[in-house]
Amino acid sequence: MTRHFFRLGMACLCVGLPLAALAKPPLTGEALYQKACAACHGVGPVEAPKFGDHAAWAELIAEGQAVVTAHGWVGVREMPPRGGVPDLSLEAFGRAVAYMARAAGADWQDPELSASLLQAIRAEEKARRQALQAQAHTVADQGRSGAAVYEAICRHCHETGVAGAPAKGDGKAWRPLLREGQATLTAHAWLGVRAMPPRGGHDDLSLEEFSRAVADMAQASGGDWRDPSVDARLMRRIRAEIGKRERQLAK
Ligand code: HEC
Ligand code: HEC
Repeated sequence: MTRHFFRLGMACLCVGLPLAALAKPPLTGEALYQKACAACHGVGPVEAPKFGDHAAWAELIAEGQAVVTAHGWVGVREMPPRGGVPDLSLEAFGRAVAYMARAAGADWQDPELSASLLQAIRAEEKARRQALQAQAHTVADQGRSGAAVYEAICRHCHETGVAGAPAKGDGKAWRPLLREGQATLTAHAWLGVRAMPPRGGHDDLSLEEFSRAVADMAQASGGDWRDPSVDARLMRRIRAEIGKRERQLAK
């Protein structure tokens, strides 16, 4: 895979969002795009489908509005859930997607103008979450150590703390995270939280490998977290937290 986490991370630096402002309803697709999406989808060094780039969007447009909106909403590869804005409504997010698609030649309308479209998006969202869940059960634990996974994937963002990622070894940044507890923190990061993409952007990572990488970072940052994959009870608690969080997100 030739994905450029580091470049993505660098571009994320400029995603400074006034979150409260974004939660207000009458936000046009264009306004939201400028605030929350342009940092990655505008002119920049990130591997996100670029605004107005017909070639980059052609495939997405062919997939259809419901699928593409739902996948972006849930998070896909390095696209963080909801574009990294947790308190966004599906309608507002969908308007920004439609705005971007129109700029690339599609005739997509704002989703709240069509009840059946909104319904289709919700159905695709459900399907996407279920597919991710099913995959989580079939991806085998290849036994990569936490340190190896960290080196291969996480360090691109977590080494220096780009995009607001808590840097490995930064005790101050990790203190409040450690307080959340290992099961909760691991579960939230696995599903993606704010600018953290689901599974660090790698669908092919097993939950065990991901959890070991979280423990590896926590250990280096003042926590005494163990490798959870040798502790069946802890793994069950992580899975329970994932289920809980998924139900919250599905609302
Ligand atoms: C932190 C960077 C980042 C931000 C911020 C961001 N995106 Fe993305 N987005 C990406 C990347 C990277 C991809 C490409 C993912 C891939 O296909 O590998 C992507 C892909 C997408 C896709 C295509 C999903 C698919 O089915 O492949 C949509 C739709 C999308 N983004 C919408 C948005 C919207 C709307 C916003 C703002 C609310 C936003 N993005 C903010 C990085 C970002
Ligand atoms: C593309 C960049 C990127 C990659 C790759 C990445 N992260 Fe993150 N991560 C982030 C960002 C940004 C945050 C901060 C999210 C926030 O709190 O706003 C974060 C936050 C986290 C958190 C704290 C979650 C919370 O609840 O606040 C954990 C744990 C985490 N990452 C683990 C990992 C692991 C393990 C990997 C590798 C498998 C990884 N990350 C790969 C960007 C990344």
